Amino acid sequence: MAQTCELLVVRDVRVVDPRTARDEIADVVVEAGRIAAVGPGAGKEPAKSERARVIDGRGNWVLPAFVDLHAHLREPGEEYKEDIATGLAAAARGGFAHVCAMPNTKPVNDRRAVTEAIVARAREVGGPALHPIGAITMGQKGAELTEMADLRDAGAVAVSDDGVCVMSAAVMRRALEYARTFDLPVIQHAEDHSLTDGAQMHEGAVSTRLGLRGWPRVAEDIIVARDVLLAEATGGRYHVAHVSSQGAVRILREAKSRGLPVTAEVTPHHLLLTDEAVVGYDTACKVNPPLREASDVEALRAALADGTIDAIATDHAPHSSLEKDCEFAEARPGMLGLELVVPVLLDLVRGGSMTLARFADALSSAPSRVIGLDPPSFATGARAELVLIDPEKRFVVEGLRSKSKNTPFWGKEYVGAVVLTMAGGAIVFDEGRVS
Ligand code: DOR
Repeated sequence: MAQTCELLVVRDVRVVDPRTARDEIADVVVEAGRIAAVGPGAGKEPAKSERARVIDGRGNWVLPAFVDLHAHLREPGEEYKEDIATGLAAAARGGFAHVCAMPNTKPVNDRRAVTEAIVARAREVGGPALHPIGAITMGQKGAELTEMADLRDAGAVAVSDDGVCVMSAAVMRRALEYARTFDLPVIQHAEDHSLTDGAQMHEGAVSTRLGLRGWPRVAEDIIVARDVLLAEATGGRYHVAHVSSQGAVRILREAKSRGLPVTAEVTPHHLLLTDEAVVGYDTACKVNPPLREASDVEALRAALADGTIDAIATDHAPHSSLEKDCEFAEARPGMLGLELVVPVLLDLVRGGSMTLARFADALSSAPSRVIGLDPPSFATGARAELVLIDPEKRFVVEGLRSKSKNTPFWGKEYVGAVVLTMAGGAIVFDEGRVS
């Protein structure tokens, strides 16, 4: 899918680079896949060359390309929902140069052979880089630790049992200790299953009204609190997946203020939707952890803005109509994310909930730090990994590159879209807006 471009010049574009606090109108020059120059007027000379492709960037923005810590690409095993090729195509369209793939595939990515197969398939496909996340426990059963050295050697950048929680404190302790020896972050799906048995949505007034069994916030908070204590005791790197509750935010803020090795991510849907979205029993709104209340959304936005929550991660979780066109209680949890981040979240930036620089940081440098990746950069000589955004472009959620359609945003219209993505020095998504 990648397209090489010998010389690309984006002129008069707003360049936002949170790493260097750059926010200015400038030209971006990419030569042979590498950043050749960034600065006001930098694109004048190369533009004279006939080889150059020149894009008029007026009114548009260039940000470092995005890094997703949390996507379910469903290969191997559930390719009818998504596969590595369609998942990476969706990522490219969303502005991502790097995608971490969760291990709850079939079979689970709990051994070297599975990790290697995923890496090999992603290389064949090309486009954004895929970084596998290995399981914490064999079969994600919560008992026996995986051979993390093998997983890391095969390319895993973190371990997680995402989809289920590591319920045993003893196993979690050993996981943090063991992963620490390989400098791998341990990503927890924080859910005390003894409190969420049969739960369909957030526990509150809306679940009572709808007659659906609730998933109380405290099920998340208990695990985050316990794990923070374990991270402190072991010195292991702990990362909380898809934070959804105000209590978890409070615990994380306190942990960070004490300098503990703790990081966290939040999804676009938890930043935008509440449990009211479930009224009408739309299965597209069934997700784990569930959509919570306005006070949680407010706490999550504040935590993202002030850095208590480090990163935005999509939790891209494709499901087919088989798993979604059914009764609410039967539906599988999860929603799409990779293609929608810019359209659905730009209103938060416009509304002043966070700055554009923080938005860029939460999608690029911050997640890179969690997995020890060299972040996409505008430094001269760096491999070009950037996203060009037209903040005025109309975007209707339809005709996605993903194989699935499970998003509550389906059919909705937004303002703001990715028009070009570069990953690993190549153009991997291009709306074809050449001037
Ligand atoms: O809603 C969710 N869907 N949450 C998870 O943790 C797993 C995911 C999936 O794999 O579908």
